[in-house]
Amino acid sequence: MADFDLKIVNGIVANSAETFSADIAVDDGKIVAIGKNLGPANRVIDAAGKYVLPGGIEGHCHIEQESSSGLMTSDDYYSGSVSAAFGGNTCIIPFAAQHRGQSLRDVLDTYHGRAAPKSVVDYSFHLIISDPTDEVLHEELPKAIEEGITSFKVYMTYDRLIVDDSQMLDILAVAKKRGALTMIHAENNAMIKWMSDKLVGSGHGAPKFHALSHPRTAESEAINRAVELAGFLDAPILIVHVSTEPGARIIAKARYDGRKVFGETCPQYMFLNAEQMDLPGMHGAKLCCSPPLRDRASQEEIWRCLQNGTFQVYSSDHAPYRYDETGKLHAGKEPDFPRIANGLPGIEMRLPLLFSEGFMKGRITLNHFVALAATNVSKIYGLDDRKGSITEGKDADIAIWDPEMSRTVRAKDMHDNMEYTPYEGMQVTGWPTTVIQRGAIIIENDELHAERGAGEFVPRNKIDCTGMPGRLAPELDPAKNFGVDLGI
Ligand code: URP
Ligand code: ZN
Ligand code: ZN
Repeated sequence: MADFDLKIVNGIVANSAETFSADIAVDDGKIVAIGKNLGPANRVIDAAGKYVLPGGIEGHCHIEQESSSGLMTSDDYYSGSVSAAFGGNTCIIPFAAQHRGQSLRDVLDTYHGRAAPKSVVDYSFHLIISDPTDEVLHEELPKAIEEGITSFKVYMTYDRLIVDDSQMLDILAVAKKRGALTMIHAENNAMIKWMSDKLVGSGHGAPKFHALSHPRTAESEAINRAVELAGFLDAPILIVHVSTEPGARIIAKARYDGRKVFGETCPQYMFLNAEQMDLPGMHGAKLCCSPPLRDRASQEEIWRCLQNGTFQVYSSDHAPYRYDETGKLHAGKEPDFPRIANGLPGIEMRLPLLFSEGFMKGRITLNHFVALAATNVSKIYGLDDRKGSITEGKDADIAIWDPEMSRTVRAKDMHDNMEYTPYEGMQVTGWPTTVIQRGAIIIENDELHAERGAGEFVPRNKIDCTGMPGRLAPELDPAKNFGVDLGI
């Protein structure tokens, strides 16, 4: 009679703060023992020469989601989650997008209905709020937070999603009061529109000009505004997909000042640049994303900000649109860049790229890799009572990485529903060869072993900002404003 369902033996185990040799025993989906000479198990995996790491948690991806213009991503919850699993992830947090006029209840019911029968990995949702009516703010949002949807994204650009500063303050105030985190797409809408009109009006409508149409300063202006609006209320925020060093510097300064600000970047800003968009015909459309790719110097700066901890979160921002009329070219064969669908695929390559170019090349430690792959996301997004580290009592979500395995990235080998990858031809060293979710092997020998719908919805805890003192603006503080209590 076996003591355990599964044992992983002889591997090097790493968490975000330590690396050690140990065996791991799993029972009923949980890690139940870590040590040596553990008892017998029904199944034993020999991980000699390999790293045994927490399963990745993808904190920013767009799956089976309609864009504001109604365009559906090419991945549904099956292909998107399968691709995530092959890339070493055991949990994903895609967006449930509210478009104007929709109730959050309907939005969440729709996304639960999409994910539950299909996802092969565990999942939660961030809401996207585009219509903060009184009912949304004071009834629906608090209810969603109580159901474990403890983060939501707002946009400072895109005509159909944008919230103005006053709406942003309303959303931030609810988030602060209820213990939720507001994620912010920070770009100045007017600058983008002004530049786009000028470029297209002067005959510069080709895909590569998308990169010019989102100036760097559009990002830093909006990040600064978001940090100031949130700082006024002392509300926690996370600036997503930061692409510029000036933007990152504002985040670093805010954190130095003790403000409740987190930062995220993505592989496209570390591994790609706008020169690569200078392709014949419409092919540059494949690399149109927002914020856009920058230049080589910027890539190095973003790496540095990842190394020095300015970015706590590293996400793919997987937003897959095929290079055809269902995706990138939905507005015709040769649209000007403002009508090209924005977004890149990358959920499967997020971790192999960072393992290879970050850890294997000595830019970050193995522990920092784990922090960016899983632990920081689990802490910031309220999952760390269950996920994000190899700890007794937590879910047995584990990825076994072979540091000797080398691969050339090919679109045909990806498991998403795309026909291209922006990383085509790159050579990576290190690969997640076995992926285990709640004790079940879901990837082994390049094969999927999970059933559709094997993933479960994971409600998330409220945000923990311990150690980030912040400071309510004096005008809002009853101790300093003649005793006026606005309930903030
Ligand atoms: O271009 C991008 N990133 N598309 C996805 C939507 C978003 O703003 O993250
Ligand atoms: Zn965004
Ligand atoms: Zn995104």
